[in-house]
Parts: sequence; C-alpha cells; structure tokens
Amino acid sequence: MERPEIKMPLPGPKAEKLLKEHRRYISPSYPKGPDLVFERAKGVWIWDVDGNKFLDMLAGVAVNSTGHLHPEVVKAIEDVLKRFLHVSTDFYHELEIKLAKKLAEIFPREGDNQMVFFTNSGTESTEAALKLARHHTGRQYFIAFEGSFHGRTFGSLSVTSSKNVHRHRFLPLVPGVFFVPYPNSYRPPFNAPPEKASDELLDYIENVIFDRIVHPEDVAAFVIEPIQGEGGYVLPLPDFFPKLRKLANRYGILIIDDEVQAGLGRTGRWFAIEHWNTVPDIIGVAKGIASGLPMGAMISKAELMTWPQGAHANTFGGNPVAAASALKTLQLIEENLMENAAVVGEYFLNRLKELQVEYEEMGDVRGKGLMIGIEFVKDRESKEPYPEFRDRVVIELYRRGVVSLGCGPASLRFSPPLIIRKEHVDVAVEILQEALKATREVLSN
Ligand SMILES: Cc1ncc(COP(=O)(O)O)c(C=O)c1O
Repeated sequence: MERPEIKMPLPGPKAEKLLKEHRRYISPSYPKGPDLVFERAKGVWIWDVDGNKFLDMLAGVAVNSTGHLHPEVVKAIEDVLKRFLHVSTDFYHELEIKLAKKLAEIFPREGDNQMVFFTNSGTESTEAALKLARHHTGRQYFIAFEGSFHGRTFGSLSVTSSKNVHRHRFLPLVPGVFFVPYPNSYRPPFNAPPEKASDELLDYIENVIFDRIVHPEDVAAFVIEPIQGEGGYVLPLPDFFPKLRKLANRYGILIIDDEVQAGLGRTGRWFAIEHWNTVPDIIGVAKGIASGLPMGAMISKAELMTWPQGAHANTFGGNPVAAASALKTLQLIEENLMENAAVVGEYFLNRLKELQVEYEEMGDVRGKGLMIGIEFVKDRESKEPYPEFRDRVVIELYRRGVVSLGCGPASLRFSPPLIIRKEHVDVAVEILQEALKATREVLSN
C-alpha cells in the first residue's frame, strides 16, 4: 500500500524559505495549520516543495471533493477554457443553466420548484440567504445557534459564534440576530438528558425568546448548520431538526440550512440535513461544489425568489469554468462518490471507535460519511476539553505525513477527498495511533 514519505524533519529548507516570505507579504489574519507548502497534488496525495509526500485527510477543508486533479474534472475545465473564461452575469450561458437545474433537482424537497443564486464562496452564499429571507418575508430578525460558523463578512459573521477572535473588534455587526444553544448531541443544551434536550431547547425558543425577546412573526429565519463544522464537527440531537421544522412552520419562519462544509455528498447524502428528514427553505453551498474552483450557490424554494431584477447580484456568479467543474463534480459524486463516502466513512468511524477503547483522551468519535471528528477530553466523565492534546496530535500526524486540522475547542477533523478508499483509511488510522502515542508521551513529560 502506498504510504506517506517524509524524508526530513519538517518543514524542509525550501518550505522554510517560502514560509518566511509568506509571513512577510500575506495578511497574518488567516488561521494556519501545520507548515505544509504545496508543490503539487494528485488524488489523495500531496507533495510539498521539499519532495515529501502526504496523505490528504482534509481535502482543503472539504473542498477537493473528487480528489486533486481528477482527470474528468480537469478535462471538463480544459474544454471550457477553449471557449471563454468569463461571461458577465448580465448575459447567459448554458453551463450555469445546467448546473442550476442539477442543484434544483437534488434539493431535498417536497415540491419540485427550486431556483439558484450563484456565489463565489461560502460566506457569500450565507449573505445571499440572509438577504433573500429578509426580502421575501419582510421580517428583520434571525435566530442562530451558538458555536456555529457561517462566514466572515459582516452579514454572515453576524450569525456566526464559533470563536471570539472572529468577532473581536469587528462589532457592531448586522443587528437583529439572537443566539440560542446548538442542539449538541455530545453536550446537550441545559445539561438536559439527551432524550429531553431537544424539547427543552425548543421550549426555551418558544417560551423565552419568542415570548419575551422577539415576537416570532418578526423572525425571518433560523440559520442552522446540520453538522457544526468549524465549531467542532458536532452532530445534532437526532430529533431536533424535524421538531424545529414544525415550530418554524407554525410561525411562518424560514429555515436556512448552511451546507457549505457538510453538503454535496460528503456525509453520504446530497445534503446532511437529509439524515434528519428535514426539508429546509434555503440551502447554502460552496467548498466542495467545484472540486477546488471558487464557487458557491444559494438554492431556495422558487416561491421565495420574489426579489426583483437588480435586488441582488454579483460579477462572477456562475462563472463558466467553475460551472463546468461543478457539473462534472456533481456527476462523479452521483455516480459513486456519495456511496463511497457512506461506505468508507462508516468503516473509518468504526476503526476510530476501536482506537477510542485504547485512548481515554478520545472523548467522542462522531460523524456522518466522510465528515468525521474526534473530540479530545481530559476525562470522559467531566468532558473537559483537552485542546493541547488535539493540537499536538495535528502536529504528530503532519510529521508522519497525514494532513488534518483542528476545529472547535478540542476537536480533530477528517474531511478527506470522497475518492478515499479503505486502504487509505487503514494507513491514516495506523499513523493516528502512532501520533496519539507520541502525543501522550510528549504531554506526560
Ligand atoms: C458551514 C460554513 N459556512 C460558511 C463558511 C464560509 O465559507 P467561505 O470560507 O468560503 O466564505 C464555512 C467555511 O468554513 C463553513 O464551514
């Protein structure tokens, strides 16, 4: 089996030089993982500038869904490059129409009538969703969930609350957002027993938020992540979203489902919310949609798109190169990658659960498909987060040639390309075991 090949202490000399220049010229505001300077990538493998070879268990945070440089995706992009690079959104081209049709088709729907607004990133999908919800309902307020991440521009940041550093010195944001606890299945809200926690949370929304703080008829939408991404790969309580749907229906409130990280096949379904049989009104996607080209979309029930010409637009939306890549990406996902994500993801989760028996620090191992997180704790009883352990595991994995990243207070995430096979998982798990052992040794000294 092919394995990572690390030939030197990392980062190597060429990487060191580039890292120095990066620090000199590029904004320090980007969060950073291990010091990996890419030279090239293919499939599930990445080579750095010093010739070291890494197994990609991250896919650029759920972006390279079909793996790096999938030949069919490259071919689709090449074909379009002979025709045009850009078509103004004032005009028309077939690729964006085909792509919109496909996205409308896969929307988890009751009816059969969806429309699409194309964006260039996740945050822009959130912005479009918030604006559409306000415009359509004529209502101003939003209810968002603690620990969630929806983007970093002013509107999306206003519904984001995963880390203080995202918000510090940027306030005030867009007014009219109220936060309630996330229906976290590992740490249920209000410390309620898991089987009662959803009802307690909904009770809180109805009897505290709606009764005393904001009238439900002033609320445009709930903004949810079906699985929290940046917040720590947190799974929801299984009964929460169907119950939220009922509550939302009662008051004419929309549900905006942010599938930027979890959506488009990664969890073994087109959209993660489908695991909980809930139909949202608006969905935001980006990241994995075009296998690595910058693109996103806001998909909504057609009856919500009551905004007139000129009300919302952008320059690059539906770019033909990105659209060609996205069409091929969705085709590959549909043909077999979604199924692969479900099968290999389950295998991966089970292998990690076996490891959990040996490692007390692995407080929770969770996920759907190939969106898998491990939350590290100081002890399983108190569930006190153990960020130092997580941070060290990320480094130890990198030193052994496995690319991953932290998220949330103390979670490690795996969001590999959807082409990954069980043999790759075996390699990753074997190396993880070594990394856990090394971390224990380092932290006990
Ligand atoms: C759930 C979710 N929404 C929105 C975003 C923002 O996406 P972008 O970085 O493309 O603006 C992210 C990015 O991590 C995300 O995970």
